Amino acid sequence: MTTVTGEAAFDLSLTEEQQLVQRTARGFAAERLLPRAAEFDQKGEVPTEIVRELGSLGFMGINIPDEWGGSGLDMVTYVLALEEINRACASTGVIMSSHVSLVCDPLLRFGSPEQKSRFLRPLASGEQLGCFALSEPGAGSDAAAMRSSARRDGDGWVLNGTKNFITNGARADVALVFAQTDPAQKHRGIAAFIVERGTPGFSVGKLEHKLGIRGSDTAQLIFQDCRVPDAHLLGAADEGFKIALATLDGGRISIAAQAVGIARACLEDSVGYAKEREAFGQRIGDFQAIQWMIADMATGIDAARLLTWRAAAMKDRGERYGPDAAMAKLFASDVVMKAARDCIQIFGGYGYLTDFPAERHYRDAKITEIYEGTSEIMKLVIAEDMLGE
Ligand code: CAA
Repeated sequence: MTTVTGEAAFDLSLTEEQQLVQRTARGFAAERLLPRAAEFDQKGEVPTEIVRELGSLGFMGINIPDEWGGSGLDMVTYVLALEEINRACASTGVIMSSHVSLVCDPLLRFGSPEQKSRFLRPLASGEQLGCFALSEPGAGSDAAAMRSSARRDGDGWVLNGTKNFITNGARADVALVFAQTDPAQKHRGIAAFIVERGTPGFSVGKLEHKLGIRGSDTAQLIFQDCRVPDAHLLGAADEGFKIALATLDGGRISIAAQAVGIARACLEDSVGYAKEREAFGQRIGDFQAIQWMIADMATGIDAARLLTWRAAAMKDRGERYGPDAAMAKLFASDVVMKAARDCIQIFGGYGYLTDFPAERHYRDAKITEIYEGTSEIMKLVIAEDMLGE
């Protein structure tokens, strides 16, 4: 059961280390991302040098123990950093969170010591980039309906199929790929494989053109008689679906943090503009219509952030946190959609122009209601927790 009954109170104070990481991420975001976020969006690419810099700061393996090349920080610290990165550039935010939450985290949780040593270490240190390949042209919310297959062949597996909507797909060094080993077993016949770029039979297909988060690549991945050794199977052969869903539980906290970050950008930009712009002989911030929008944004952001922190703290404590992560993502994505709409409204006609960041926030916000589980799937997860056995 989620924390609706109120037992899961948590300490809201941040440690010195958490504050230091927050300040570091804020400084990096202000200096390296904010001035160029519009350019990344227009060119459709966050340069590799930015991803490398995130690696040098220790952010690409932020919550992975240092034993495996990461920074060894907790999930709360990770979401603090993510909020700051996303406040400046949501494209950079999702490159980082797909890599950390959807690839490093499952390798840490389900990988063998050999797999951690070989694959997790270079990923967590930021030398390499990872992607998570679950969705397919005909299987999004209904992930178990995937058609990609993994056939046993001697001491390995042969993968065939197409994966869609894969964040970081075009440039990832390592892909975590889910495939059916036995369709008759449905979700219990799904396995997870670690596939390296350059493996024969693995290629990148078309790159998608998107409404928002345009600086992060979204690619199709194609597997044609792609042979992977047994040593690249993550967990047991019948555990792939559970690995995918358990991974997404954590990913959803990072998308909630992304939504909070984008919403904060909407709020801060709106406040700045409302203090400067004048109409009818006064600052537009003196009008109640604008004040109410700003008050709603600020309240929504704070509530969404608290849900996000709570889900992160529950993960850190080793508690069951899936429904709480779903609540945080559901609420935060709703908050950012309203904040982005109101931000454009406050900017008026200027909000509609690409000269100002409001329209980018609006485009970037929408995906938070879709990827890593739609808002409808989040409600399903929460309701199942309330009503299930
Ligand atoms: N963790 C671990 N296991 C879980 C789980 C969880 N959170 N939730 C369910 N399971 C297990 C169940 O115990 C069950 O196992 P058994 O049968 O062995 O007991 C099994 O999974 C199936 O459970 P359900 O019958 O509840 O599964 P379902 O097929 O009805 O699906 C769902 C439930 C909630 C709809 C789930 O499919 C889901 O979350 N779908 C959304 C998928 C999604 O988020 N896709 C996003 C793609 S990734 C992406 O966007 C990446 C990107 O690049 C940014």
